[in-house]
Parts: sequence; structure tokens; C-alpha cells
Amino acid sequence: MKDRLESLREEALSALGKIGDLPSLGVWETGFLGRKSRFNLLLKGLGNLSSEDRKTVGQQANGIRDELAAALANRRRELSSVSLSGLSETERIDVSLPGIKPATGHLHLVSQAIAEIGSIFGRIGFHRSVQPEVEWDWYAFESLNMPSDHPARDEWETFFVDAPNHPKLGKMVLTPHTSSGQVREMQRRKPPIRMIGISKCYRRQMDVSHVPMFHQFEGLMVDRGVSVTHLKGVLDHFARTFFGAGRKTRLRPFHFRFTEPSFEVDVSCGVCGGTGRLGDGKCRLCKDGWLELGGAGMVHPNVFRSGGLDPEEWGGFAFGWGVERTMMMRSGLNIPDIRDIYRNDRRFLEQF
Ligand code: PHE
Repeated sequence: MKDRLESLREEALSALGKIGDLPSLGVWETGFLGRKSRFNLLLKGLGNLSSEDRKTVGQQANGIRDELAAALANRRRELSSVSLSGLSETERIDVSLPGIKPATGHLHLVSQAIAEIGSIFGRIGFHRSVQPEVEWDWYAFESLNMPSDHPARDEWETFFVDAPNHPKLGKMVLTPHTSSGQVREMQRRKPPIRMIGISKCYRRQMDVSHVPMFHQFEGLMVDRGVSVTHLKGVLDHFARTFFGAGRKTRLRPFHFRFTEPSFEVDVSCGVCGGTGRLGDGKCRLCKDGWLELGGAGMVHPNVFRSGGLDPEEWGGFAFGWGVERTMMMRSGLNIPDIRDIYRNDRRFLEQF
């Protein structure tokens, strides 16, 4: 037993001498001094010795253990100072090297358009309002002069939410157009109102020029003596500021249930300058000099009534266009498929 202890001691010390890093030192410690170490295993044999031998061997074993522990502490001190002095070599940084610039993103092109549209109207006194994305049937249709089962509702291919009906406001829908914000705004504040509401809208549609989630911006002006002239002035102001000097709008008679009279708004084509002709042939973008933007009109008396305003006292106009569509019409931005905007392909997005 004495010899085996002695040879274990030699083996341990020689192994310790060969260790060159701190983690291996831990492994050595568990192997030679740990609870389940060979040293401890050997000591289990003490019980079989005579009491005389047990005493001397026990003393020898304690001596070895103390020696090994001291040697371990020594080696640990040596290695730590080596690794500290090595730090200045391995961890040195050259502060004169040019830095690595973290990649910075930018706003999505639709967010850019929203900010720009908001600020164009903001500068002529329209305040931004945000409307809910999940709406009640009453605000989306009923309050806008579209009674339930009215065929005009078919225009808005609406998503209905599987939720209990509101006792007064009816079914829950995903907001199909921002016009629901008209009555909400009339209930929220007293006229005069000059609102630009920009929100997400949802419709069951998907092709090169439609996505199921898109954005609209809704203008609403309510005051005394508001006329179509005011509407035309605001639209022309927007066309010039957003599309460029020289662009103008045209109103075409149309029908919406919530405006009377109603219009489709066109903006003069930026490619052919509103002539419809390019070189010897027709302009390929617009065909007749005009691009269709969206709807507008004078607020219908029934909509004023829904909003708690007296149509005899108040007048107003409203317009509602798609942000993506309007943005894509800006000359220079030629996006062949509207769905590209939402595919989240960085190669596409980084261009804007
Ligand atoms: N809400 C209509 C649409 O989504 C557009 C519109 C807004 C028309 C305001 C008239 C007045 O098509």
C-alpha cells in the first residue's frame, strides 16, 4: 500500500508539471484529489490494515494529500500569471484600425410614404388620426349610409371576425376602408374638423395590383360652407407636392353611398405629361393622360347624422386613397407587382 501511494504521488506530480493551462488544472484536481479520485479509492483499503499499519499509512496519505494540494496551488498561481501576461499579446487591439460600421436599416418604403403623406396634409392643417384595425360593422358600413344587405357593400370584400356581435354596432370586421374613421372622428371632436387618417385596411383580394392588407389615407374636412372647390384645391395641392409641380387632378362623377356628389379622382400622368401620347404612339402607363387615384366626395347628410352633426349646419368633403397605389404611381417608382412590397426580400427593400 505504501508503494502504491508513493507511485500515485509521483504520477500526480509529473502530470501536474506537464499541465499548461488553467482548465486542464481543474481536470487534474478532480482526477487526483476529488471525491472519487484514485487517491481516495486507494484509501478505502486502509480498513483492511492492522491498526499499527493504518496509523503510519494514514499519516503518509495525509502528507501526500497536503503536498499535492500545495503543488496544485503553486501551479495554479504560475499558470494564472502566465495567462495574464499573455493577455497583452493575445488581446491587443489596434485602435488605429478603421471600425466596422454596424449595418443600419431604414424605414420601409410604405412607412416613408405614410410619413410624407401625413406631413403634406399636416402642413395645411390636417391632423393625423389613427383608427382601429378591427372595427364594428356599424362604423364600416351602417353609419356610412350602407344598411345591412345593401349591395353596395360588395365593393369591400370584407373579412368578418369570428366574435360575438356588439349589441348596437353589429358584427366585428377587419377595417375594410378608412372611411369608418369619418364618423369616429365626428364623434370624437367638434367641428371644424380637418383630419388625415392613415391606417391599415383588409380585403379579401390578392393579385399583382392587390394585397389583402394595405393602407389608406382618409381626408375629412367638416366646417360651414365647405364646397367642392375646397376639395379640388386640397387634392391639387397634394398632387403638386407629392407627385411634382405641374401635376393636377381631375374629378370624374362616380357613386359612393357616403358622399353626394361622389367622384373618382385622377391625377395627370407624369410620363406623358397628361397628353396620353408618347412619341408616335399612346402613353403605355396611362393611355389617356390620367391615372386613377381613388374616391372622394361631399359628405352625405346621413353620415353627418351618424356622427351626431346637423347636416343643415355643417358641410364637408372626404377622400380616401390607397397609400401603396398612390406611392407606386409616383413617377420613377415602377413596381411591377404590388405584392413585392410585402415579401420582405431585402434585395427589394434596400433599393428604397
Ligand atoms: N372609402 C372609399 C374606398 O375605400 C373611398 C372614399 C373615401 C370615397 C372617402 C369617398 C370618400 O374605396
